[in-house]
Amino acid sequence: MPARPYQPLLLRILHGVTGASAIAAILTAAWTFDTYDARWIDLPLPHWPDIEGIHGTFGLYALLAFPLLVLYAFRQGDRRLAQLDSLTTLTRMSPARPGWWYALHRCTNTVMLLAMTFALFSGKMMDSGWLPRGETHHAWYLTHLVSWVVLVLALGLHLLMSAKVGGQLLLLSMLDWRFRAKDHPRHWPGHIAQTWQQRQFSTLRGWLAWVHSVRLLEALILVAIALSWIIPIFKH
Ligand code: HEM
Ligand code: HEM
Repeated sequence: MPARPYQPLLLRILHGVTGASAIAAILTAAWTFDTYDARWIDLPLPHWPDIEGIHGTFGLYALLAFPLLVLYAFRQGDRRLAQLDSLTTLTRMSPARPGWWYALHRCTNTVMLLAMTFALFSGKMMDSGWLPRGETHHAWYLTHLVSWVVLVLALGLHLLMSAKVGGQLLLLSMLDWRFRAKDHPRHWPGHIAQTWQQRQFSTLRGWLAWVHSVRLLEALILVAIALSWIIPIFKH
C-alpha cells in the first residue's frame, strides 16, 4: 500500500487560489474571445460584453496570488521544480526508469510557472478598450491569445504528469483540507525563516551558487511580474 501523499497546507492554499483563478481566467478568456473575436473557432456561447471585465478580475486574482506561489515553489518546494541536472536526466536516461518521469514531472511544474508568467504579463499589456472597439490586430492581443494555448497545454501536461507519478492519490492530496499538527499556521513563520536563512549572499561563492541554480529563474519570474505592474503606468 503506497504512503498517502501529504501537501503542506501553505502550498495547498497558494496553489489552490492561483490554480482556481487561473482556471476561471482560462474559461472566461474563451468566452471573451467568443464574444469579441471568434476568428478561428466559434463556440456556442451567448454574446456577453461584461465577460471581459470578469476575465480581467480573475486574471487579477491570479496575478496577486501567483508571486506568493512562486516564492513558495522556489524555496520550500524547490525539490519539486526542475533541477540543473533534470535536462541531463531526460536526455541520458531511458523513459523505462522512474527517475526519468520524476525529472519530466519537475520540468512540467516549472513550465507551469513560466506559462503563467507569460499569460499574466501579456494580460497586463492588454488595453480593455481594444476588443470593444473591434481592434483585434494588436500584437499584445495576439500574444495574449497564444499564452492561452500555452497555458492550457502546460496545464494538461501538469495534470498528466501528476497522475503518472502519483496517480489519483497525489491529485487529491492537493485538494484535501485536513492538515497535520506540525503544519499548523503558527509554525509557518519559523518554516519560512528557515528557507530564507539557507541563502548565503555574504560570500562570492554564495552569489555564484545562486547564479548557477534554478533560483535565477525565480528572480526572472518576479522581475517579469513587477514589470507587468510598472509598464502599464507609463502607457496611459
Ligand atoms: C493552473 C495553475 C497551476 C499552477 C501555476 C500550478 C503550479 C504548480 C507548481 C509550481 C507545483 C510545484 C509546487 C512545489 O514546488 O512545491 C505544483 C504541484 C502540483 N500541482 Fe499544480 N499548478 C496549477 C494547477 C493545478 C491543478 C488544477 C491541479 C489539480 C489537482 C494541480 C495539481 C498539482 C499536484 C498534485 C502537485 C504536486 C506534485 C508533487 O507533489 O510532486 N495543479 N503545481
Ligand atoms: C483566449 C484567451 C484570452 C483572451 C481573449 C483574453 C482577453 C483579455 C482582455 C480583453 C483583457 C483586458 C481586460 C481588462 O484589462 O480588464 C485581458 C486582461 C488580462 N488577462 Fe486575459 N485573455 C486571455 C487569456 C488569459 C489567460 C490564460 C490569463 C491567465 C491566467 C489571462 C490573464 C489576464 C490578466 C492578468 C489580465 C490583466 C487584468 C488587469 O489588468 O486588471 N488572460 N485579457
